[in-house]
Amino acid sequence: MERLQKVMAHAGVASRRKSEEIIEEGRVKVNGKVVTELGTKVSAGDEVSVDGIPIVTEQKVYVLLNKPRETISTVDDPKDRETVLDLVDAIEERIYPVGRLDWDTTGALLLTNDGELSYRLTHPSYEFPKTYVVKADGWVSKKMGHQLARGVIIDGEKTAPAHVTILSYDGKADTTMVKITLHEGKNHQVKNMFEAIGTPVEKLTREAFGFLTTEGLPSGEWRFLTPHEVKQLWHMVNEDVE
Ligand code: URA
Repeated sequence: MERLQKVMAHAGVASRRKSEEIIEEGRVKVNGKVVTELGTKVSAGDEVSVDGIPIVTEQKVYVLLNKPRETISTVDDPKDRETVLDLVDAIEERIYPVGRLDWDTTGALLLTNDGELSYRLTHPSYEFPKTYVVKADGWVSKKMGHQLARGVIIDGEKTAPAHVTILSYDGKADTTMVKITLHEGKNHQVKNMFEAIGTPVEKLTREAFGFLTTEGLPSGEWRFLTPHEVKQLWHMVNEDVE
């Protein structure tokens, strides 16, 4: 049994002090009942919710998946297509993808039940780097590469500075391979950026999520992160690690 505010803090809801305030404000339910007592203790089987949203009290799990094409990275698909969760169904904890990859995008996808880390890895203010390899339709010139790097306008907003390397051009197929590292992750951002410069994406792979790559991980396979990797991720989003 653990004190409610400790459980909330561990689940990444807020600091212990702030969690106490949230409890006193009557925003926390334990097994469906509002609790305002700060001394309340809960165990692993208890259902705790804040503002009606259940918090995760399970052990933290971190998984790196090499996402194949034709899988969807939302938890539930109304069209009943295969989701990335179907590929990690050996894991009992309720993990979910950190950000999204499109149905036809392959590569590194992190899944976890650590809400706070997930929030930080996806929030643009933490500028967590994601590296993609793009096969673009047409010739991407050096100048166009610079344009991508400086930022292009999408829906009236300029994209943040990116790191861009033009890898090769296939004259026969008229396609260019480009590596691009983004520090933000708007919906369909890579596809929209290449569309904006007139060379649409034909194929998209996320080669790296931070320092995590799919090297040695066949398509559709996953592995647990090592404790060291988890620590490194926290360091990258500026959290002091005990
Ligand atoms: N950008 C895209 O356009 N699609 C993805 O899946 C990821 C980044």
